[in-house]
Amino acid sequence: MPLEHAEEARARWLERFPQGFEERTHGRELELAAYTEADPPPGALVERVDSAWEERWRDFHRPVLVGPFWIGPPWEQPPLGVMPVVIDPGGAFGTGAHATTQLCIELVAEQEQVSLLDAGCGSGAIAVAAALLGFSPVVAVDVDPAAVDATERNAAANGVAVDVRQLDLATAALPSAELVVANISLELIEVLLPRLAAPVVIASGYLEHDEPRLGRYRRRERGLRGGWAADVFVRAQ
Ligand SMILES: C[S@@+](CC[C@H](N)C(=O)[O-])C[C@H]1O[C@@H](n2cnc3c(N)ncnc32)[C@H](O)[C@@H]1O
Repeated sequence: MPLEHAEEARARWLERFPQGFEERTHGRELELAAYTEADPPPGALVERVDSAWEERWRDFHRPVLVGPFWIGPPWEQPPLGVMPVVIDPGGAFGTGAHATTQLCIELVAEQEQVSLLDAGCGSGAIAVAAALLGFSPVVAVDVDPAAVDATERNAAANGVAVDVRQLDLATAALPSAELVVANISLELIEVLLPRLAAPVVIASGYLEHDEPRLGRYRRRERGLRGGWAADVFVRAQ
């Protein structure tokens, strides 16, 4: 679709694919792609999951430079002088290249290295990057078993310790941490915030014009990229 329709399309896709979707720009065109069993949006091209699809899906897995990191798939070679974060998403969301993931990792890199919870970890890019930066302990949780599996594999492949658990952020007892990073959806952020006691929360997964209801938190900082937003919230005493 033309880039000028991006904001509207992202808002529609966020409703349809709350588990996330990938993006790629081709000049003035934007391509959105989701790996899903849900009904496709009108006009979307549907490809069955076979080897041709896997090849095409690989096109979305391009390495990116994020803060001190090179984040890329196992079949790409990191250049010298960067800290590699190798991410194989398997069936989970996240190559590490999405604007929201990049914003979260950049904001994490600015924080003091404390205990960290990656809430809705997908393939674990944020948890792995945080562990490489020295955050400890790092706990990563997701409701999707494919995400738990991918995060465990990616932590091991990058040689870092991440405690990965399957749970629902809306209902389960949550592991405590001094910094919570939640790249999820606006609706789930609003359900999650009142359940947290962490002094600092980095939240993303929503659009530039979205303003989450904050409850006991207030915004300290906002980062924007490609129409997406990421916020640093601090808890009022
Ligand atoms: C947009 S993806 C982000 C993944 C990863 N944090 C990243 O930046 O690449 C959101 C993740 O939240 C997970 N999620 C959605 N609803 C959830 C819930 N109620 N409890 C736990 N995880 C949830 C999804 O399974 C998905 O992996």
